[in-house]
Amino acid sequence: MAVKCSRCGKPAVAEIRYTRSRLCREHLIEFIERRFRKGNEEFKVFKNIRRIVAAVSGGKDSLAMLYLLHRFSSVYGYEIIGLTIDLGIDRGKEYSTKSVEAAVESFKKLDIEYVVVDLSREYGYTIDFIRDRGRRLGIRRPVCSVCGITKRYIMNRFALELGADAVATGHNLNDLAQFIFTNMYGGHIDELIKMYPKLPGGNGFTAKIKPVFMLYEKETTLYSILNNIRFHHDTCPHLENGIGGRFQTAIREKLEQLEEEFPGFMLNYVLTYMRRIRPLMVSGSSMGGDGDGDSGEKISVGRCRICGMPSLRDVCAFCSIRSRVSLKVSETISRSRGD
Ligand code: AMP
Ligand code: FES
Ligand code: ZN
Ligand code: ZN
Repeated sequence: MAVKCSRCGKPAVAEIRYTRSRLCREHLIEFIERRFRKGNEEFKVFKNIRRIVAAVSGGKDSLAMLYLLHRFSSVYGYEIIGLTIDLGIDRGKEYSTKSVEAAVESFKKLDIEYVVVDLSREYGYTIDFIRDRGRRLGIRRPVCSVCGITKRYIMNRFALELGADAVATGHNLNDLAQFIFTNMYGGHIDELIKMYPKLPGGNGFTAKIKPVFMLYEKETTLYSILNNIRFHHDTCPHLENGIGGRFQTAIREKLEQLEEEFPGFMLNYVLTYMRRIRPLMVSGSSMGGDGDGDSGEKISVGRCRICGMPSLRDVCAFCSIRSRVSLKVSETISRSRGD
């Protein structure tokens, strides 16, 4: 006999163990949407936000975020601009091409204005190029770290240019549980403080929001499937060389095992950190708060000599990567000319 929805008795499509319920399609969508609203309201995520740049990778999390943002745009009174970055990752799988296609398909379906930034055309390198040639160019960071710097820079820069009040990313509850754990372990206080649904802008930074922070990865996946959202399933081919690599993966798996054993574990872990621990850290940190209990990049920073964006150093991390790449390109041109 088919398992029935705890609310209405229709056939259930999934079990939500931490609420001890089984839900049909309609009630599951309603449940996920209610949690999206509840989390964002508790942490005042959309307060004073009128224009959001939604950073969409084409995966399930950022696409679920896009649909949820779109669904409640008139309730909270913001408009959305889509942003997707073609990072130039191929590796025989056309990873970036497929990611961008999935993002654009949804922007069009929802009739959302959007921008595609082609890293190679706009800035002269691809992530595959960094993976293959980075070391020889003197770029010591792992490829995923270069990719992270690149994405954050482009998101911030385009959000500022597009006059947005915030950049939204699709980090889910599992991501946050993992980041909180590993940053705590490593004592990375500044990174730990950033693990919050909303970080205010200022000093050349746009505010950053994580509207699906309260949704488990399973929930963003279910939401995407139930809404017939076509998302890109592949994982990045460079992930095996990722920041932290095996350690990060192991922590995530352990946290997921704890969730299996004690349903609701991750939710409690993340909410306890955000509600009770982080406020104490913020009041004792140089980053300050803004009265809403959140804090952000309010440390005083200078400007990058090359691009004018905020930077703690004379040249920002992004421009220093670019200068190494363009140095090599100009050397190659002079060599081929025989200069
Ligand atoms: P990741 O760092 O790959 O875990 O991605 C975190 C978030 O960054 C995603 O949920 C997206 O919101 C955003 N993001 C990642 N890759 C891209 C991309 N290529 N274009 C636009 N946004 C992205
Ligand atoms: Fe950036 Fe994989 S997505 S290196
Ligand atoms: Zn039901
Ligand atoms: Zn710069």
